[in-house]
Amino acid sequence: MANNITSVSKESRRFTPSDEFRKQARIKSREEYEALYQRSINDPAAFWLDEAREIPWSKEPKKGLDWKEPHAKWYEGGELNASVACLDRWKGTPTWHKAAIVWEGEPFYQTGEPEVQTLTYAQLHAKVVKLAAKLRRLGIAQGDRVAIYMGMVPEVVVAMLACARIGAPHTVVFGGFAADALRDRINDCGAKALITQDIGYRRGNEVKLFDAAHAAAAQCPSLRTILVHTRKLENLHLDDDAFATKFAVTEGSQEVERMIARTDLVPKDEAATPVDAEHPLFVLYTSGSTGKPKGVLHTTAGYLMGAYVSTKYVFDLRDDDLYFCTADVGWVTGHSYIVYGPLSNGATALMFEGAPNWPQPDRLWDIIDRHNATILYTAPTAIRAFIRTGEEWPAKHDLSSLRLLGTVGEPINPEAWLWYHRVIGGGRCPIVDTWWQTETGSIAITTLPGAVDAKPGSAGLPFFGIVPKVVDQEGKEVARNAGGKLILANPWPSMLRTVWGDDARYAAQYWSDVPHVYTTGDGARQDEDGYFWVVGRIDDVLNVAGHRIGTAEIESALVSHPFVAEAAAVGRPDELKGQALVVFVTLKTGAAATDETRAKLLEHVAKEIGKFARPDGLRFAAALPKTRSGKIMRRLLKDLAAGVESKGDTSTLEDLNVLAQLRGAEE
Ligand code: PRX
Repeated sequence: MANNITSVSKESRRFTPSDEFRKQARIKSREEYEALYQRSINDPAAFWLDEAREIPWSKEPKKGLDWKEPHAKWYEGGELNASVACLDRWKGTPTWHKAAIVWEGEPFYQTGEPEVQTLTYAQLHAKVVKLAAKLRRLGIAQGDRVAIYMGMVPEVVVAMLACARIGAPHTVVFGGFAADALRDRINDCGAKALITQDIGYRRGNEVKLFDAAHAAAAQCPSLRTILVHTRKLENLHLDDDAFATKFAVTEGSQEVERMIARTDLVPKDEAATPVDAEHPLFVLYTSGSTGKPKGVLHTTAGYLMGAYVSTKYVFDLRDDDLYFCTADVGWVTGHSYIVYGPLSNGATALMFEGAPNWPQPDRLWDIIDRHNATILYTAPTAIRAFIRTGEEWPAKHDLSSLRLLGTVGEPINPEAWLWYHRVIGGGRCPIVDTWWQTETGSIAITTLPGAVDAKPGSAGLPFFGIVPKVVDQEGKEVARNAGGKLILANPWPSMLRTVWGDDARYAAQYWSDVPHVYTTGDGARQDEDGYFWVVGRIDDVLNVAGHRIGTAEIESALVSHPFVAEAAAVGRPDELKGQALVVFVTLKTGAAATDETRAKLLEHVAKEIGKFARPDGLRFAAALPKTRSGKIMRRLLKDLAAGVESKGDTSTLEDLNVLAQLRGAEE
């Protein structure tokens, strides 16, 4: 299989950082990068222990790494608290009264009054201390899981750090997920509390987060408490805290008792719980190649160090930066590069609520202009959408405050890279491409700004401590410029530790495909300069508009509908989204293949998983192409969806007529 991976990009342009940028960068040349990189892989324990001196510990770690494949322990013996490393550490320094978060809500565009909130480190700390105390008084203890189902408001950061403060692992569920998906995630990790908000705003609409949370909670036996952050005054009925305890559930939807934890007597700085270096910090669900999402587990010290060190070097933060990451905290990018990375670096993070192209296609440019953002980190799919709406939108704004740009989430096509560089970066800002995954916890391959040249479309060179290789099925490194599987050969601090509740799945999924190395699931090639070019997933995972979606998850949502007998989901190349999601469905007898049924099934997926997972196309089929052993031949379906003639072998296809029928089907 690995031998079939070909990378067709012939892009050969290089962009060298300006002398001006280089001079003030932490790492100023490829040689400097190489020297530090070699150190990081020759003696990873020493490298990472050195870096660890920059964050506060309650008890210093003695050891860098303890590796018993596939289980890593980093910083054994160390004790710390992630909220202290992000907040308390700045007490008594000039950072304490600097903005930690600058936030802009969406309703600004409805009222004409900017809804902007700035929280200094001291203010954010005060909110976190208060909520942490409230959680403690509600009986949430170290080790208890807390689900967070919120939109992009500063309080979501408060919620995450409050959990970290008491040693309760959080699981943030993206606010775009539907009630059923939320329920499954709460139940999988047995969360004891749920923190949500009444409503959020997106594209001028109210997103009714509490209603979905309430519906999910009714089917979550482990849940004891729901805390609600209220945006709307009329929803604020219980007390005047930022987080009102709405009610307590003990059995199903039975409201057994109400608990209103008074927090007005909380001391200004109730202590954080020091936890072991390997104590779970959070679980984040992501799609895999089966129908059940995986709870990727990250632990405290290793994850934090990955986020801290990568933020420091990759975004090359300076004290006066206003750093803008457009990701949602519901995904790993928001965890590492809005919350833990920037705050542990004492940076100011700009976050916004809403959509990048509402009410007009210049929402981001307007934000950058008004706030004077200096760094922008966004996704290729967003850039392609901006290209489509035209240069006149960024042209309306002064973007000269920007000094560095970044991309994440999927391979960026060179055209989009060049546009981003010219139109948004004014030709002067380096672009850092950053390849990584929910599982890697932090950036693993990148073009360090100031240090190395960028090649549009290439993710770049390995980050410190990371040993990526392109290998064949046997794990043998392939020749330079040949395609193969992208693996990571060594353990690194912010790697996932396991899949929540399913260690066997962890070992099978990540450490068995190619022996003794971590399998990323991506295909790639490495060029003559050592740069990695990622071609995308080679497993049954799609990357649709920057969202990772497992085809099996979509299929199991479809077959849960009473009309559906069988379903197959595949990706189709899409100019805007990278990949579009197309599903093939065979219906049960009695169900009619009509537009009405199609609409119902699409709505069903949106209801089960979330609107962002609604397929772009649905074709009815009398049967799906299968091998004689009954395996669906996705390769053929992929070609059909893309409208290309299948060149592949069809000799194993059981019934050739099936293909002919499918060709005629409409979406
Ligand atoms: O296929 C790669 C792609 O996104 C996958 C990871 O998705 P997720 O866990 O949702 O995390 C996204 C944010 C880190 C990878 O396996 N990917 C991510 N960044 C890049 C990328 N592909 C190419 N270039 C990138 N910079």
